[in-house]
Amino acid sequence: MSPAMAFSTSDEMRKTNDDDDHHVTESQYQKGVKHLHEIGISRVPRRYILPDSDRPNAVYKRANHLNDATPNLKLPIIEFSELLGPNRVQVLKSIAKACEEYGFFQIVNHGIPLEVISNMIDVSSRFFALPFEERAKYMSSDMKAPVRYGTSFNQNKDSVFCWRDFLKLMCHPTEDVLPLWPSSPADWRRLAAAYAKETNYLFLMLVEAILESLGVWGATMNKTEEDDEILNKFEDGSQLMVVNYYPPCPQPDLTLGMPPHSDYGFLTLLLQDEVEGLQIQYKDQWVTVEPIPNSFVVNVGDHLEIFSNGRYKSVLHRVLVNSAKSRISVASLHSLPINSMVTPSPKLIDKANPRRYKDTDFASFLEYISSCEPKRKNFLETRKLNN
Ligand code: OGA
Ligand code: NI
Repeated sequence: MSPAMAFSTSDEMRKTNDDDDHHVTESQYQKGVKHLHEIGISRVPRRYILPDSDRPNAVYKRANHLNDATPNLKLPIIEFSELLGPNRVQVLKSIAKACEEYGFFQIVNHGIPLEVISNMIDVSSRFFALPFEERAKYMSSDMKAPVRYGTSFNQNKDSVFCWRDFLKLMCHPTEDVLPLWPSSPADWRRLAAAYAKETNYLFLMLVEAILESLGVWGATMNKTEEDDEILNKFEDGSQLMVVNYYPPCPQPDLTLGMPPHSDYGFLTLLLQDEVEGLQIQYKDQWVTVEPIPNSFVVNVGDHLEIFSNGRYKSVLHRVLVNSAKSRISVASLHSLPINSMVTPSPKLIDKANPRRYKDTDFASFLEYISSCEPKRKNFLETRKLNN
């Protein structure tokens, strides 16, 4: 027996014992990747290692030729303030094009005070800096819990873990959920609620623009009561905030911060710090989205793909990790109220464009992700009609 083996049950020894992962126990995985980073592992435990074909540098085969470069991508940039001025029609066209071609765009000049944004990133890093016992108060195996702290996606079911810890918060109705949010750091509720309110307002403005860009609603259109009803519904819609923490990873080529997935809501507003990591699938390649300070990455979710009857695309994206820096992102997922049905807009269905999706609701989505690993676009695939 080697001297190291003789002491292998002590936490102290585990720090230096990095030549295999037998010393990283199940209970240590369950504490999350920040914990693994802190105990100083120098190799990724087997539990996190993806099969070759799913690793970050796996070559993506295009139809006719191979291309293994992963270029950076400048997403279409939308000047939000221009939406409110005389160039609205032009901006709506740019939004439509971005949603059709990339499923993603970036917005700048959005009007959210910089302080609200920097406070959100700051209080998030202070949350993840709390002792594990404090964060663990919010752990739950219930995927539907209004507040859920955890690691990977579903740490009770995932076969391969991903390299992220997270805090998920439901944001509506505020008066019901706020008392359930973390009470530490002491300013968490105040700062996170201010951020949630601002992003929700921005979402509502964006949704008007999206509906107008699809031709189903517009300030200048002849509107029926039904047309206005959809906007009213969004005002009372659902909002889920996910704060993601990706600590440095000793072998970032073997694992992912988040595997390829699409977001299930209508739109996601993503705030990322200055560390890159987000990649989207574009023309059969993974391309990295360059962070722009104080901007939001906006992406089409499954519900908008369904609502637009397939015109706007909910695109696969994933997150790379790196060995040098931790990264924080805050994703705000917005959609209709939790109990409403999402259906293709009747205005976007006709003979030439038959209905392409079944109706869907949150309940069935939540059932779905509780029962299996949310890999790729499986859920949306289950809503497609074959015609
Ligand atoms: C998400 C997501 C990307 C990121 O939370 O759904 O895709 O950069 N996040 O963290
Ligand atoms: Ni996502």
